[in-house]
Amino acid sequence: MPSDLSPIDKAKFVAAKRAAQMVERGMRVGLGTGSTAVWLVRCLGEMVREGGLDFKAVPTSSQTAALAREVGIDVITLEEAKWLDLTIDGADEFDGQFDLIKGGGGAHLQEKIVATASDRMVVIADAGKAVETLGAFPLPVEVIPFGWQATQALVEETLTSMDVLGRETVLRLKGDAPFRTDEGNHILDLHLKRIGNARQLAVALNQIPGVVENGLFIGICDQVIVGYGDGRTEVRDVDKGTIETGRLEFVESDNLFADLSD
Ligand code: A5P
Repeated sequence: MPSDLSPIDKAKFVAAKRAAQMVERGMRVGLGTGSTAVWLVRCLGEMVREGGLDFKAVPTSSQTAALAREVGIDVITLEEAKWLDLTIDGADEFDGQFDLIKGGGGAHLQEKIVATASDRMVVIADAGKAVETLGAFPLPVEVIPFGWQATQALVEETLTSMDVLGRETVLRLKGDAPFRTDEGNHILDLHLKRIGNARQLAVALNQIPGVVENGLFIGICDQVIVGYGDGRTEVRDVDKGTIETGRLEFVESDNLFADLSD
């Protein structure tokens, strides 16, 4: 039941629900990955089933695709969509310019492709994701498995000339084995603590052979919807410099919350 949710889950839920209201009939929409995006997909599924909302979705991971289909959303590929009206996704950190760290769930490659193929990217997040400077959250870098240790050494060498506070890099594991992305690649998590020049770092990392994509989203996000545990929402717009406030009720809907205790 919604009343059992933690304040952070309530914050994620209201941010997602507010974002779902931006989806209109006939739109092609990118659906992000992660726990906040799960709320989004559930909200949109309910709008499809009960409100007759008709739109097409391009998921950013196999998990999101499976959930979207399960809740009744019409899923298509990016090739079929060609271009998207809107992408809504979570983030691990966002700063005052709406630059982001993403990839905590290992899906940032597809997320970046989908977001940059969209007219607009909206990030949904609880207030705890806001930072003054990016970098406390380890920066995910997707690398090809072939020769990944050589790629890691080059990443570390590159970091020596970058404006960062920490330089430890760690291969992400799942159990005892290296984590695999949807594309079968590995992830290096870069413990940088503070990133002084995120744009420069993003360009430098992507020049290293073996690096597929880094989790820095620079100049891609247009709006951030911040949710709070008491139901308040803020729609922050980077270009307009505006903040639109609102409040959403926690409606006890069996469809949305029934399987939480599974
Ligand atoms: C997935 O790879 C990530 O980019 C997620 O969007 C990000 O980690 C946010 O996830 P949560 O909504 O679970 O915090």
